[in-house]
Amino acid sequence: MVAASQPTPPRIVVLISGSGSNLQAIIDNVANGEIEADICAVISNVAGVKGLQRAEAVGINTHALNHKEYESREAFDVAMMRQIDDYQPDLVVLAGFMRILTSDFVRRYEGRMLNIHPSLLPKYRGLHTHRRALEAGDQEHGVTVHFVTEELDGGPLVIQAIVPVQTGDSEDDLAGRVLKQEHIIYPMAVKWFTEGRLSFNGGQVAMDGQPLPEGGLQLDTRE
Ligand code: GAR
Repeated sequence: MVAASQPTPPRIVVLISGSGSNLQAIIDNVANGEIEADICAVISNVAGVKGLQRAEAVGINTHALNHKEYESREAFDVAMMRQIDDYQPDLVVLAGFMRILTSDFVRRYEGRMLNIHPSLLPKYRGLHTHRRALEAGDQEHGVTVHFVTEELDGGPLVIQAIVPVQTGDSEDDLAGRVLKQEHIIYPMAVKWFTEGRLSFNGGQVAMDGQPLPEGGLQLDTRE
């Protein structure tokens, strides 16, 4: 008799540039069985960062590709694509990957590439999101998980966590409050994708076959 083969878990490649605390949250959720997936590799555009050490500590393949060693953005992205494709991932997770991507790169992984951005998109695309929210006097701030499209920080939203801005908050206070929520909503979105519940096809994000509203799902952490 031939034993039934186990279905292979979805394959994930994570791209980072730094601390990798979001990567850690996903590693932890895979380790405790909440996410059934295989994190095949972690790739960083900066060597020696803490995120690479976090991956190495649990035996995940790591690669550092220094973007400064490539003659152009295109050449770097081609090298990244080769490295990623070696692992044939079902999902590419951008977790603090601080590089602008070429159209070819985005198109290759469209529908299977997620990003996390520390603002309530479409507010504050780009950098220094916490500072900008404070300077604008916003009462609420937050973080967004979205599918990646060619528009920088402009892809369709999956889930946002809304956090309060408190009187006297420094940039670090606010960033810390947001980061806590990042570690909750990113593993959630990755889990949904790997379970086949979350999809982005033909320009439409769907959850359990139902189109998501334009603002995605919302987790409101204000009292
Ligand atoms: C996170 O706050 C993430 O939202 C942000 O970088 C940080 C990475 O932290 N990403 C962006 O700003 C992307 N535009 P981590 O390395 O500890 O996960």
